[in-house]
Amino acid sequence: MRELSMMTEGLGLTRERLLEVDVHVRPGDALRALREEALAGLCTRPKELSPKWLYDERGSQLFDDITRLPEYYPTRREREILEAHAGEIARISGADTLIELGSGTSEKTRLLLNAFQAEGLRRFVPFDVSEAFLRDAAAKLACEYPGLQVHAVVGDFERHLGFLPRSGQRMVAFLGGTIGNFKPAQRAHFFREVADGLAIGECLLLGTDLIKCRQRLFAAYNDSAGVTAEFNRNVLRVLNRELGANFDVEAFEHLAPFDEANGWIEMQLISQREQVVRLAALGRSVNFARGEVLRTEVSCKFRPEQVEAELAEAGLHLSEWWTDAAGDFALSLSFKR
Ligand code: SAH
Ligand code: TRP
Repeated sequence: MRELSMMTEGLGLTRERLLEVDVHVRPGDALRALREEALAGLCTRPKELSPKWLYDERGSQLFDDITRLPEYYPTRREREILEAHAGEIARISGADTLIELGSGTSEKTRLLLNAFQAEGLRRFVPFDVSEAFLRDAAAKLACEYPGLQVHAVVGDFERHLGFLPRSGQRMVAFLGGTIGNFKPAQRAHFFREVADGLAIGECLLLGTDLIKCRQRLFAAYNDSAGVTAEFNRNVLRVLNRELGANFDVEAFEHLAPFDEANGWIEMQLISQREQVVRLAALGRSVNFARGEVLRTEVSCKFRPEQVEAELAEAGLHLSEWWTDAAGDFALSLSFKR
């Protein structure tokens, strides 16, 4: 479905088609998917939920708060890299169409937009599953960048990459280390889908968080103000609202240990007591033992060679690799061959 908004400017002059919104995730579809996943994820062991349910409006707001926490370094580090290299990225990519997957507020992306505008950017395509948040972000961008076509896409990047606009010379940006929220098999599938969707000569700009000392990794996902805990527990509020569940949100504790063997932070909600949770919309009850873990997300941390090899496996050839001064986070630019 496509909606066009007419933006008016100055003395009633009309600029056409500056803001478009495509919607591929209807509330009914999302609810159906949530029902299926909750059934599959909560009635098995270990209990597990997909991270995309973390991002309702409140969750998106909480994530935005996380990006400003003193312990959460990825956002600041990635911004540092963009500040230093946005011009180069724009030049080397040769793109006139910037697509951003999992765009959220597109806050850091403004650094790219500014640099790309100097190189003749025509269109920006923010793509996110969180509809209200995306609409708001896209409307703000359309105002801030008059003359730039903003074409927002509400979709699931695990299902709707085939709907991305095809015209122009494109660069796909996937920032924030969100790639780390896939497990390895899903990640390989995602790289393939992205690569298959690109034409030869088009590129992917990827943000990856790098392996570092476990104390700093731990602190980034177990902040002292408890914002990450609130963000993680928010998924239980989503289930209460959408599936008529009766989770006692406070009876679950947040913990995000670093799993050395898998190279990922694992977000967990730990049941503080034995409890039975009713999920009215599923016609089911689920038992939690005291200390039982519900896994909500992983956040993989990478070694440089690993990123290059995985991209190559999907047909994406690494061209550039930038890190921040401390070597905490990396941005890579790779081209479809
Ligand atoms: N790119 C931003 C936000 C990262 S948070 C940054 O770097 O700060 C991850 C974003 O991905 C959120 O906005 C969330 O709504 C979105 N997201 C999560 N799962 C998604 C999915 N399956 N499809 C599309 N967007 C998704
Ligand atoms: N993409 C972010 C990351 O992996 C998402 C994130 C940050 C997150 N903190 C979180 C997800 C806490 C769940 C819980 O860093």
